[in-house]
Amino acid sequence: MNAVFVDTHAHLYDERFADDLSETIVRAAAAGVTRIVSMGDSMETSAQVVADTGYPALYGAVGIHPENAVPLTREMRTQLLTWARRPKIVAVGEIGLDYYWEKDADRRLTQRELFAAQLHLAREAGLPVCIHDREAHGDTLRILQEEGQGLAGVLHCYSGSLEMARELWKMGFYIGIDGPLTYKNAAKLPDIVREAPRDRLLIETDSPYLAPVPLRGKRNEPAYVVHVAAKIAEVRGESVEEVACYTTENAIRLYPKLNN
Ligand code: NI
Repeated sequence: MNAVFVDTHAHLYDERFADDLSETIVRAAAAGVTRIVSMGDSMETSAQVVADTGYPALYGAVGIHPENAVPLTREMRTQLLTWARRPKIVAVGEIGLDYYWEKDADRRLTQRELFAAQLHLAREAGLPVCIHDREAHGDTLRILQEEGQGLAGVLHCYSGSLEMARELWKMGFYIGIDGPLTYKNAAKLPDIVREAPRDRLLIETDSPYLAPVPLRGKRNEPAYVVHVAAKIAEVRGESVEEVACYTTENAIRLYPKLNN
């Protein structure tokens, strides 16, 4: 099979890759995964993501994840913008809201303010956004509509409703599909994937988390994104080659810097 895949979301700075990052990239290439977007989740990991773009296959996104939410200082903002202008930094991410892990009202407010601030930063940098939304669907959509005008982006590891997905597709947003599609408790996700316009789907691993079946429970890595593609093909009645082809086109349309 000559299909080429892009893993549009992985966390390769994770210590679980400290000993074998180059081998991980080689295994990915052997599986046809020739480009990988590594996602920062703090200032420290964003710096690592930028450094890792020295690997030809690696691209990056810089940003602060809601679980690490703090008020965005002017220094942090300036640093993120400087990184965002580098040729292989394709997006601002991973940003968004997480109400699953955060129950405190004040810290949820900090998340919302940081999310809005990073949407504005992405607009200034001329970059799309990669969004994390866990049990915060209403606020995520509202902030995107109020603060995200003109931005392109993806709702990564999509976990919202079909109705919300339809709204996002209308807004021109993509949804990212990961290992959970392959799980028995995938619930409504297969219906959403079946209905998705083919120009609105991205495949991703979220490595080292969420390994797809048949590797569930193991450390996830970019090579395994082919299992997500295979499941999408099965659910939609398409060939894996077709899925590889249009999800790669989608990744490059959303992240034009993948051509750098
Ligand atoms: Ni992630």
